[in-house]
Amino acid sequence: MYIELKGINKTFGNYKASSDVSFGIEKGRLVALLGPSGSGKTTILRMIAGLEHQDDGDIYINGVCVNQVPVRERGIGFVFQSYALFPYMTVFDNIAYGLRTRKKDKEYIKQRVEELLDLVGLPGLEGRYPEQLSGGQRQRVAFARALAPNPQLLLLDEPFAAIDAKVRKELRNWLKEMIGKIGITSIFVTHDQDEAVEVADEIIVTNQGRVEQMGTPVEIYKNPATPFVAQFIGESTLLTDYARLKGFEIYKGQRQAIVRPEFVKVVDSGLEELHQGVYEEGTVWSTSFRGNCVELIVEVNGIRLKALQSLEEKGLQKGDKVSVLVYRLYVVHGQETHLLQNELLKDGYTFYI
Ligand SMILES: Nc1ncnc2c1ncn2[C@@H]1O[C@H](COP(=O)(O)OP(=O)(O)OP(=O)(O)O)[C@@H](O)[C@H]1O
Ligand SMILES: [Mg+2]
Repeated sequence: MYIELKGINKTFGNYKASSDVSFGIEKGRLVALLGPSGSGKTTILRMIAGLEHQDDGDIYINGVCVNQVPVRERGIGFVFQSYALFPYMTVFDNIAYGLRTRKKDKEYIKQRVEELLDLVGLPGLEGRYPEQLSGGQRQRVAFARALAPNPQLLLLDEPFAAIDAKVRKELRNWLKEMIGKIGITSIFVTHDQDEAVEVADEIIVTNQGRVEQMGTPVEIYKNPATPFVAQFIGESTLLTDYARLKGFEIYKGQRQAIVRPEFVKVVDSGLEELHQGVYEEGTVWSTSFRGNCVELIVEVNGIRLKALQSLEEKGLQKGDKVSVLVYRLYVVHGQETHLLQNELLKDGYTFYI
C-alpha cells in the first residue's frame, strides 16, 4: 500500500471528527472520499497532509510512518475547494510559488512553469491575474501549482465545488485524464456521488467520522455494505415492510428494505410480455419529467415505489393502472444490508449489475 491509515481518531473539543479510520491506497490510484457534509472528509485529508494531527493512529506514506514528519517534507500537493490562488500574483507566480520556496533556480522555474501550463492546457496565460480567469481556468492553475514541486501524492478537496454544473463535468473528465497521464496517487474529496463514480478508481464512503465502505464504484453500487451506503449511493426508497411485495420472503425477521428505481419495472396493465405471473397490480401516484426520463411513483399494495420510465415508452398518467415488478432489494439488517432477489424470478431471469 502506498498510503495507509491505521486506527485514526480525531476529536475537536468533544466532537469526534474521525473515528477509527483505516484504509489503504495503492500507488497510482485515484480515490474519492465521498460522504455528506460534516462526515470528516476534509479532516482526513488535512491529517494526511500534516495540516492537522490525529489524536491516535498512524499514517504511512510509501511504507514510512509520517506522524512526526512536517507538512513540507511529506511530498504532497494540495488543491483546495476555491479561491485557492493568491489573488495578487500572476499565474506564473502562483505556479512558481512552491518552487521559489524550495529555492529552485530561475531557469528551472521558468521551464517548469511553461511545461505545467502546457500540461493543463493554458499556454500563454502566465501574465494573467486570477480575477482575469474563468473558474475552470483558475482550478487548472491551482492544479498546476500543486504539481509544480513534483509531489508524490495529490490531495484535492472539492476542487470543483464553486464551478457550475456543465464546466464541472468537463473538468472532472479532464482531471481524470490528467491524473491518469501523470500517474500520481491522488485522493479527491467530494460529496457528489456522480462525481465520485465517474472519476474514481475506488471510493471511500464516510459517514459521521467513520469509513462505511471502500471499493470500486461498481462494488459499492452493487453491494452496498451498510444501509447508509445503500441510501447514499444511487437513488433509493426506504420501505418499512417489503414483505407486502410479491416475491419476497422476510429475511431474518427484518422488514425494512431499500429499493432503487432501476430495480422496479412498470408497464401498462396487460402489456407484460415476459414473466406475467410475477407482476402485481399498481397505480400511478405521480409522474414527473426529468429531462432524459420520466420519474414515476407507483403504489403497490400500500407501498410507494419510485421507478423510471424511458421517453420511448407510452406516457403514463396519475391514476393509471399498471403492472409492477420489483427485481431485487436490500434488506436492512442492523448495520448491514442483505441482497434479496425476487423469488419468482429465480429461474430463467438474470439481473445484471
Ligand atoms: N478546526 C475545527 N474545530 C472544530 N471542529 C472542527 C474543526 N474542523 C472540523 N471540525 C468539525 O469536524 C466535523 C468534520 O468536518 P470536516 O470538515 O472534516 O467535514 P467534511 O466531510 O469535509 O464536510 P464538508 O463536505 O462540509 O466540507 C464537522 O462537524 C466540523 O464542524
Ligand atoms: Mg470538507
